[in-house]
Amino acid sequence: MVDQSPLKIGIAGLGTVGRGVFKILEQKAKLLELRAGRPLMVTAVSGREKSKSRGINLKNLTWYDNIEHLAGDPEIDLIVELIGGASGPAYELCKRALKAKKSLVTANKALIALHGAELAGIAENHHVGFAFEAAVAGGIPIIKTIKESLAANNIISLAGILNGTCNFILTKMQEEKKDFSSALKEAQGLGYAEADPSFDIEGTDAAHKLAILSALAFGCPPNFESIYIEGIKNITPPDIEYAGELGYVIKLLAIASLDEHEGKQELEQRVHPCLIPKSSDLAQVHGVLNGILLECDSLGKLFLEGAGAGEGPTASAVIADIIDTAAGRGSLPFNMPVKLLQKIKPAKMSDHQGAYYLRLKVSDEPGVVAAVTTILKDKRISLDSLLQKPVKSSATAQVVLTTHQTTEETMLKAVAAIAKIPHVLEPPHMIRIEEI
Ligand SMILES: NC(=O)c1ccc[n+]([C@@H]2O[C@H](COP(=O)([O-])OP(=O)(O)OC[C@H]3O[C@@H](n4cnc5c(N)ncnc54)[C@H](OP(=O)(O)O)[C@@H]3O)[C@@H](O)[C@H]2O)c1
Repeated sequence: MVDQSPLKIGIAGLGTVGRGVFKILEQKAKLLELRAGRPLMVTAVSGREKSKSRGINLKNLTWYDNIEHLAGDPEIDLIVELIGGASGPAYELCKRALKAKKSLVTANKALIALHGAELAGIAENHHVGFAFEAAVAGGIPIIKTIKESLAANNIISLAGILNGTCNFILTKMQEEKKDFSSALKEAQGLGYAEADPSFDIEGTDAAHKLAILSALAFGCPPNFESIYIEGIKNITPPDIEYAGELGYVIKLLAIASLDEHEGKQELEQRVHPCLIPKSSDLAQVHGVLNGILLECDSLGKLFLEGAGAGEGPTASAVIADIIDTAAGRGSLPFNMPVKLLQKIKPAKMSDHQGAYYLRLKVSDEPGVVAAVTTILKDKRISLDSLLQKPVKSSATAQVVLTTHQTTEETMLKAVAAIAKIPHVLEPPHMIRIEEI
């Protein structure tokens, strides 16, 4: 029989997302009840500080200073975890809630990337729902798309702009010719970047999301530790400019693919800045937006774009999960029983095959370019293009080159040799090219 009793919800964390979820549940209560087939009722909440002004009415709700007590509240059917953090209180709350046979919805990517399989196992054993649509790309329904709409497909590869902060910074650098630090300051001023932006700009946040997407796409447990991660701190205005001249834009991409290596399947997962063609769908993703390109065997290519963060978009995804839980439509967190998830050997980054962009600051003297191309020739790396740009009012030049496909290992050896040429004045800037 369909359960029509109110679904009693406890929200842990009333920050940006928690407040958004609370407000939408209140403002659209009637509509959401129709869609869920039963009332959705927040009965208890928890935060660090009750007296904080949050613009929401806490009257008639039970307030818990201690989230463990929220998890133990016998009235509650579903815990919504919106605290954040891979370990500590959020992790303890989620384990406790699932073990107490409460369903769980969270937006916490770090937690799922590191403990998703363990939590999914607990949810399965206790026959409760566990969903995390908002953990990847905020409002874009990418998890539902992979689990449900693409169920008939093998996913061959995926590539995404999964961090709005980095995309905002790179868009500002491209469109307004800002340098990295002033674009970052602007992002902080607008609330798009934290005071400590390390998680975003170093690529960790995008890697958390990639680990989750890979698990869903390839049927493996999330493997965050094996992801190659490089952030955007070293991208400079000249790189943006020269990439543009060559027909590319620079984006921080999170990429995963299943590849064959020596007859065995390997999973390549990497997060790093890339030159991508200006005509690519991902190149049209501007500002804080996110975009994801999936390549599937039956469907072919699918591209999704939308708001990857913020109160409204993230709350929208959280509430979709709440409605599924209320309506009894929940699916297994990773789309199959946890024990059937297969570990896949991680590909070594040194085996990565790709094309490369290299920018060198050199003294403007004859023979420097010849020395560079000789090294590339010795390493059997073939050149695709070469630009030489004299720098005004100095006896230096920028040499910018792109290569055809080679391996990362070969390219790094060539770069190390090029760095030793006496007329190369600073460490070479290498960026990978994705013809995506
Ligand atoms: N913000 C986004 O756009 C976005 C997008 C996608 C996913 N997410 C994810 O959503 C989650 C929440 O993010 P957010 O931006 O809403 O964070 P936030 O604004 O920092 O809010 C965190 C909330 O957690 C509460 N909290 C922290 N430690 C606690 C504890 N020990 N016990 C009880 N409450 C505690 C805080 O309480 P006080 O208010 O009392 O300090 C605050 O209300 C994170 O996992 C984040 O990665 C966020």
